[in-house]
Amino acid sequence: MREQRAPEAEGAAVWNPGTASEKQKLFFMARAPFIAYGGAKGGGKTWAVRTKAVGGAVCNPGIRILIMRRTYPELEENHIGPIVRSVPPEIASYNVTNRRLSFFNGSSVKFGHWSGELSELEYQGQEFDWIFIDEATQFTERTFNYLKGCLRGVSPYQKRMYLTCNPGGVGHSWVKRLFIDRDYQKSDDPERREEPEDYVFIPATVEDNKFLLKSSPHYLKMLSQMPENVRRAYRYGDWDALGGSYFSEFRRGIHTFAPMKIPAHWRRYRSIDYGLDMLAVLWIAVDEEGRSHVYREWTKERLIVRDAARGILERTLPGENIEATFAPPDLWSTQKDTGRTMEEIFRSVGVPLTRADNNRVQGHMMIKDMLSAGERGPELLISGNCQRLISDLTAIQADETNPNDCAREPHEVTHTVDALRYYCVSRVAPAEAPGEAEEEYFEDPILGGEPEESYLFY
Ligand SMILES: Nc1ncnc2c1ncn2[C@@H]1O[C@H](COP(=O)(O)OP(=O)(O)OP(=O)(O)O)[C@@H](O)[C@H]1O
Ligand SMILES: [Mg+2]
Repeated sequence: MREQRAPEAEGAAVWNPGTASEKQKLFFMARAPFIAYGGAKGGGKTWAVRTKAVGGAVCNPGIRILIMRRTYPELEENHIGPIVRSVPPEIASYNVTNRRLSFFNGSSVKFGHWSGELSELEYQGQEFDWIFIDEATQFTERTFNYLKGCLRGVSPYQKRMYLTCNPGGVGHSWVKRLFIDRDYQKSDDPERREEPEDYVFIPATVEDNKFLLKSSPHYLKMLSQMPENVRRAYRYGDWDALGGSYFSEFRRGIHTFAPMKIPAHWRRYRSIDYGLDMLAVLWIAVDEEGRSHVYREWTKERLIVRDAARGILERTLPGENIEATFAPPDLWSTQKDTGRTMEEIFRSVGVPLTRADNNRVQGHMMIKDMLSAGERGPELLISGNCQRLISDLTAIQADETNPNDCAREPHEVTHTVDALRYYCVSRVAPAEAPGEAEEEYFEDPILGGEPEESYLFY
């Protein structure tokens, strides 16, 4: 791998990327930590990623670059294949096992795809100077935040993330928020604060890509025959035409509340979704008018049933009187190996479960119904602390084959939404008015305190 010779020694070895369009040049020259290039389909985004990554590796000795795409076949077709074919072996050599292209000058380009939470282990501890996410709207905000953590290292190169994007997809909301709406999180905590000048967006339309229009003159005609909203999104990169979450009713600010004192007389419930891949638990309190407040969440991967039940108990505070813990019906199925049900194990540890209905469409309609604000406002509110639930609710898309249901992929955004569904489909009683001497306490000893506006922005 390291026996490469410099191109000068070979004389003839040249990497020739071609000529960039005006918009691609803007993408190449941008210097902010987060640069997004996007909008139209066919605007020349993937070409720009390949060219900037290889050009960056050639010009910046020792730089470490990662190119991400959602699935391996797409990664192979759009990046690995074209790059490995275009870069002469005298300049760099490709290691199939590591999916890494190593350059004679010490630079490297690693190719990655995201296969859910397991990928977090793969990238844990890895360091890159530049990360490219091609088709960023296919990634969840959680993954984006995770990959941000890999932008580090002692090299002199400015750490940057380059994103490309089309409207629509599981990441539509966060990409639109950061790069189109420019609606940034304000916080006193510099780690949480988003600085507007860190984000640059370069819009692309199909017309910007003269190469495509020349080689495929029918492309525009094909786009013009698509449904109006798809056409507006794909041809002009219109971010309001497509995409958005299945739960379009959900709005930060309307459906979120700052952590607050939950009155002791409000009825409390838990709702869980359990699988070995992920446990999701929500704690919900119902006020006197029947409004539900999700006030705590917990998610954890790869827990056996007993540890899941223990973890739920540990996170339920003394004095929190839980009326019921809703759970999906499959926990009542007898396990082949033990002859027991998971419900029995939860019960034996001290978490008795209440079986919830598993009708997806009906359950999702209940969530939508509780979110839609009638005269009294919405019936479902979520604490700003429950960031995972908020992010999953804003990410989850409609099912392409059944628009009344939401998509089951990517699987990682479904767990908290399923837990919420089991709660919403199990109608619960409102709280009764308190006795005179009843005490109130903070919902969480760590996060208790006066409500602050900043919580609303999570
Ligand atoms: N500067 C360029 N020089 C030569 N060919 C280019 C250039 N830019 C883009 N192309 C070609 O135009 C076509 C479309 O470009 P590309 O695949 O990069 O678009 P895209 O925006 O990623 O499209 P999609 O939204 O479908 O993913 C490809 O065949 C690509 O090789
Ligand atoms: Mg592309």
